[in-house]
Amino acid sequence: MPLIAFASPKGGVGKTTVAAHVAALLARRGHKVIAIDLDPQNALRLHLGVPLRDEHCFLSRLGARPAWRDALVEAEAGVRVLPHGPVDPGRTLELSQLLMTEPQLLAEPVREMLAVPDLIVVLDSPPGPNAGLAALTPWLDLMVILLLCDAGSAAIIPQVANSRFLGRGTLATRSADRAVVVLNQVEEEEPLSDAVFEMARAALGTRLIGAICRDSHLAEALADKRMLLQGEPGAGEDLQLLAEAIIKRLKLPPPAGRDGGFSALFEWGRI
Ligand SMILES: Nc1ncnc2c1ncn2[C@@H]1O[C@H](COP(=O)(O)OP(=O)(O)OP(=O)(O)O)[C@@H](O)[C@H]1O
Ligand SMILES: [Mg+2]
Repeated sequence: MPLIAFASPKGGVGKTTVAAHVAALLARRGHKVIAIDLDPQNALRLHLGVPLRDEHCFLSRLGARPAWRDALVEAEAGVRVLPHGPVDPGRTLELSQLLMTEPQLLAEPVREMLAVPDLIVVLDSPPGPNAGLAALTPWLDLMVILLLCDAGSAAIIPQVANSRFLGRGTLATRSADRAVVVLNQVEEEEPLSDAVFEMARAALGTRLIGAICRDSHLAEALADKRMLLQGEPGAGEDLQLLAEAIIKRLKLPPPAGRDGGFSALFEWGRI
């Protein structure tokens, strides 16, 4: 079943916020979802309502070959999370080097997850190129690249459009249709936002699969340990449309025995 990454050349563009919401919306549709945090900031779990004191960790202990099933935490809307776990800054580089020399430490457990029927795996990536994302790139079904409607993102759009972002040569060309873009924090009637939006639409065509408006409810919801999962006007609706666009892009059938709506919670038991 599919592997979906939320990534970006840039930091602070909404990768974790959007990954958490899409994971939760897919779970509400009735899918089994595991969300894996590849980022040493260890924040994905908090977006999904896992308490700060929870000590489950996965990536940070990768060298000890942890059993992934034991590291799973039950979170919002039935999503199961593999938190990164705390890493002191001095060890971040070591972990990165370990992943570069032994990518199978991460690739093997993720391939085991992908063999579980009806399971969707969602990745929250740190900004920029990183060893965790590189280890899993060969198995990605969709890379959702988050950008903002600002000048920094505008400079990157041409690279994303011609797939240089994914590297060079045949591998990048063949991966191109697996990389799609979402513009976040889009502002109505703001000249720069409008200009970047139009530029992205012209350069990316159907690879621009979503736009999310700037909405202070997203940050407020996080502070209140809530998510916007009811299709609330504003970012809530945009996130729901994005989840639907991803379902369409991946041709994800409704889970067995479900109509594919977003309304009911689903107990999916042991995997
Ligand atoms: N559409 C939006 N409207 C308003 N605020 C938003 C929106 N999307 C994200 N934010 C806010 O932007 C900030 C950064 O979001 P987030 O942590 O998800 O980004 P990130 O790309 O994961 O960052 P990092 O690169 O540090 O991992 C957060 O405070 C979040 O609440
Ligand atoms: Mg993040």
